[in-house]
Amino acid sequence: MKILVVDDEDMQCDLLKGFLEKQGYEVATAGNGREALRLFSEIPFQLVLIDHRMPDLTGDEVLEKMREINPLVRSMMITAFGTVDTAVRVMKLGADDFLEKPVDLISLLSKIHKIEQALIVGEEADDVTETLEQSELPISIVGDGTAMKEALSLVRRISPTHWTVLIRGETGTGKELIAHLIHLLSPRSEKPFIEVNCAAIPENLFESELFGHEKGAFTGASSGRRGRFELAKDGSLFLDEIGELSLNLQAKLLRVLQEKRINRVGSEKEIPIDVRVLAATNRDLKSMVADGTFREDLFYRLNVLDIEIPPLRRRKEDIPALTDYFLERYSPRPVRFDSDAMTNLIKYSFPGNVRELEHIIQRTVTLSRGTIIRDRDLPAEIRFHQVTEQGTLAERLEAVEREMLMSALEKSEHIQTKAAKSLGISERVLRYKMRKYNIKKAS
Ligand SMILES: Nc1ncnc2c1ncn2[C@@H]1O[C@H](COP(=O)(O)OP(=O)(O)OP(=O)(O)O)[C@@H](O)[C@H]1O
Ligand SMILES: [Mg+2]
Repeated sequence: MKILVVDDEDMQCDLLKGFLEKQGYEVATAGNGREALRLFSEIPFQLVLIDHRMPDLTGDEVLEKMREINPLVRSMMITAFGTVDTAVRVMKLGADDFLEKPVDLISLLSKIHKIEQALIVGEEADDVTETLEQSELPISIVGDGTAMKEALSLVRRISPTHWTVLIRGETGTGKELIAHLIHLLSPRSEKPFIEVNCAAIPENLFESELFGHEKGAFTGASSGRRGRFELAKDGSLFLDEIGELSLNLQAKLLRVLQEKRINRVGSEKEIPIDVRVLAATNRDLKSMVADGTFREDLFYRLNVLDIEIPPLRRRKEDIPALTDYFLERYSPRPVRFDSDAMTNLIKYSFPGNVRELEHIIQRTVTLSRGTIIRDRDLPAEIRFHQVTEQGTLAERLEAVEREMLMSALEKSEHIQTKAAKSLGISERVLRYKMRKYNIKKAS
């Protein structure tokens, strides 16, 4: 992406240029509005950062003229601290965003990444032809419903880029599958796809696993070994459960991502690495950043592009197709669900998402004998789930209560204070009830 920085203070221009170039952008600077417009008519900049207050033309005059030249230009206005009025006017004029001085570089970068993501999606949306949308995927992924279709369409568009992707979604939603798909749809598909489960590697072995080690680097290192970064050479490295990394390891990973070089443990030699990083998590990294358990700079580095895979309960339309897919995979003979059983399956909330559905189908086909799966063949959790319609008064009340808790928590994005308030109970009571019904805290 080509960026133009317009500011009458040289220092500010240099600072932003230096920073953005380090991030891999092409940056030009202009010291006043006229100069900016001249450059702008010569070079196709995709983004301009404009100081609002300049001696000759003001920032919004410059922006207005630029928009006459190229209405699609993305822009960010840099305003003096506390001039919100100006900011509002600037946004009305069509700046995509604004920043206050002194510019917070991390937030600048994150805003640029968002613009970039919107650009790719927008630009390529025009190019994505029907055939591409419908062409067969290299691995089977079921999902005809709107939510999954949208996610897959985004996957197709971002796969060819070299950017880091953060895949978010609850456990069992298919994050790993999507990561693999991105790799297979990318120009790196013939190269390795290497997975690292950050939660599974003990802290003290992490560096050697990722970066490799030399013979004798530590007790037990009887021979040298390449780490996963090296194994993923020219391919993709999938950092799964990235939210589980300790702060110490986050810092080490960040350094490698920034410098694109590694040192094997016990070696001074720097090895350049060319890998595309894909990361996944079922945790809310943003709130982890807020409470200091996840590094903000690492978050922004990983979250260049992001894909959220919705939980199965929010795309229930996919359940029948997924069921057929798993039935075919796990049943030695043709079987099908009768309509009552299917209805009940669809009603279930699937806290474990697609993986849970997969296990349910596996179990059910193993235990059932006929060719038709009926309600009574379904596992207890699904039958218990429908006690709102059957069962004793106490059972029904409990089921209703559980549903209300789950739905309040979901609506309040698992912020317990909010959920408790909306239910009209105290947080302490909410926590007690969550324990009682075995509702896990959002992780
Ligand atoms: N859309 C889908 N079509 C077919 N199979 C799917 C789909 N989504 C998930 N699965 C299957 O469900 C299981 C769980 O998927 P996956 O391991 O990718 O989930 P995950 O999000 O990585 O879970 P976790 O957070 O627990 O690691 C896998 O067996 C996967 O093949
Ligand atoms: Mg996974």
